[in-house]
Order: sequence, then C-alpha cells, then structure tokens
Amino acid sequence: MTEILASKNLVATRLAEVAEGILVHKKRGITPKMRVFLVGANPASLVYIGHKERKAKSLGIDFELVQLNDDNASEAELEKRLEKAIIDTNHDDSIHGTFIQLPLPKSFSRQKFFNLIDPKKDLDCFHSLNIGKVYFGNNDLLAPCTPKGILTLLKDSKIEMHGKKITVIGRSHIVGRPMAMMLNNENATVNLCHRYTKNLSEHTKNADIIISAVGKPRFLTAEYFRDDQSQVLVDIGITKVDGKICGDMDYDNLIGKVKAITPVPGGVGPLTVLSLMENLVTLLNMD
Ligand code: GUN
Repeated sequence: MTEILASKNLVATRLAEVAEGILVHKKRGITPKMRVFLVGANPASLVYIGHKERKAKSLGIDFELVQLNDDNASEAELEKRLEKAIIDTNHDDSIHGTFIQLPLPKSFSRQKFFNLIDPKKDLDCFHSLNIGKVYFGNNDLLAPCTPKGILTLLKDSKIEMHGKKITVIGRSHIVGRPMAMMLNNENATVNLCHRYTKNLSEHTKNADIIISAVGKPRFLTAEYFRDDQSQVLVDIGITKVDGKICGDMDYDNLIGKVKAITPVPGGVGPLTVLSLMENLVTLLNMD
C-alpha cells in the first residue's frame, strides 16, 4: 500500500503552535505584522498571496500587500519604488517580517532585493546572511519555506533521511538548491538534478527519496521509479491543467508502486505557508 503524505493534520497541529507563539507577543502589546511586495499582477502570485493572507489573519497576524502595479512605469522606475518600499519597511517598527512574492520581472536582480531586506525581517530566508547560516548547517532557525516544510513533513512521517540517497530535481534558488543543502545537513546523500542532467531515470530509480520541483505536469511517470514500494516521492510541482491543479508526479499511476507520495494539492503547498508563519515567530523571538 502506498502511504499518502497529506499535510492537513500536521499543518493544523503546527499552526496551533504558531498561534501560541503569536499570542505571547500579543499579550505583550505587540501585533505581529507581515508585509508582502508584489511587482505586477501575476494571477498565480495573487492566489498564493491570498492563501498566505488568510492563514496569517486566522492566526491574528496583520498582513499587508504592497502591490507595485503601474503599467505606465518603466521597470527601472518600479525597481526604484521597490527599493524605497523595502528600505521604508526595514525602518518601520510595526512590520516584523517581509518578503517579495516571486517571480519578479526578469530584468530585476532578485539577489539585490533579497539583500536589501533587513535580515531580521527576512521571512523567506533569502538574504545572503540568513541563507549563509543554513549553508553552515543550521536548519532549525530561519530556513527557506518550501524546503523547511518538506523537512517538517518527512520528520513527522518518520521518513529517515540520515544516510539515505535523495534525488532533488530542479535547482532553483528558492527550492532545489536550499533543499539539497538542508538535506545534506540532515546527513542524506544528495543528488541535485537539473535540465542538463543526463539519464534522469537512473537518478530517480537509484534514490530512496525523490523530490521534484520542475513544474511539468505528470512528467515523472512510473518508468522513472522502481515498482517495489520502497521509494518516497515528494511533489513540489503545481501546474494548472484544464482548470485542475497537477503536480510533477503522475500520481494516479504511481499509487501502489511507491512507498509514499505527497498529493497535489494537499501536500507541500500548505507546508510552505506553515513555514512562513513559523519563520515569523522565529523572527519575533529573535528581538
Ligand atoms: N514564489 C514561489 N515560491 C516562492 C517562495 O518560496 N517565496 C516567495 N516569496 N515567492 C515564491
């Protein structure tokens, strides 16, 4: 039987802990607040922001969206406005955490903007100083949200990482790379695959755990895996196909063949939002 690694109950339990963490600050007269920046009006980004906003508000966290969406402004002008808005946020004591919803327009230097955010308000953990702490082996404080959520799930599901072979597919700065680093911190043997990887199925068949963040719907079919019910699949892909949300894994045809699999939706997505809220509590507790 394949175990379905749905995150609903785990997320509910952990969010209750976050709510307690928030309450401590409220009792001291502090209303925790996060601010998100969005450049443009990417519909998917607005959906993700909506999820984050609803969750934040349900936990008693104030949430503010600053949307830079001016068709008459050049990208250079929008960059200036974003820069100013981030600096203002750094100096605004009523804001405890902030992040830039990605993607940013292609011409923007993401790293420049990540590094403009005050590291003490860096909810995404993309500032070089904060991601540097992860590089030096620290998974337990601030960490990038999606990889942090996946570690939360694997640990809660008692899926061993120590000494295991883990293949991560996709090397983005926000998911694949930090994921590989954090798994390495957990003493896994990590194989980070990407678009130029040859014979991908050799890497997937050889792994104990396969984590995919590619964004190609149902791309990982049964041929990529052993059928001995020994492998664990974690699906980060979210793509809309005919109005339905699909992951990277060919989910329906993998049930019965693998040991465990995360569903899409209902798997990694809610864990990412949980991690964002946990990161806010971490930042609040640092003061
Ligand atoms: N867009 C897709 N994933 C992410 C993420 O982890 N953080 C932010 N800020 N934007 C995203």
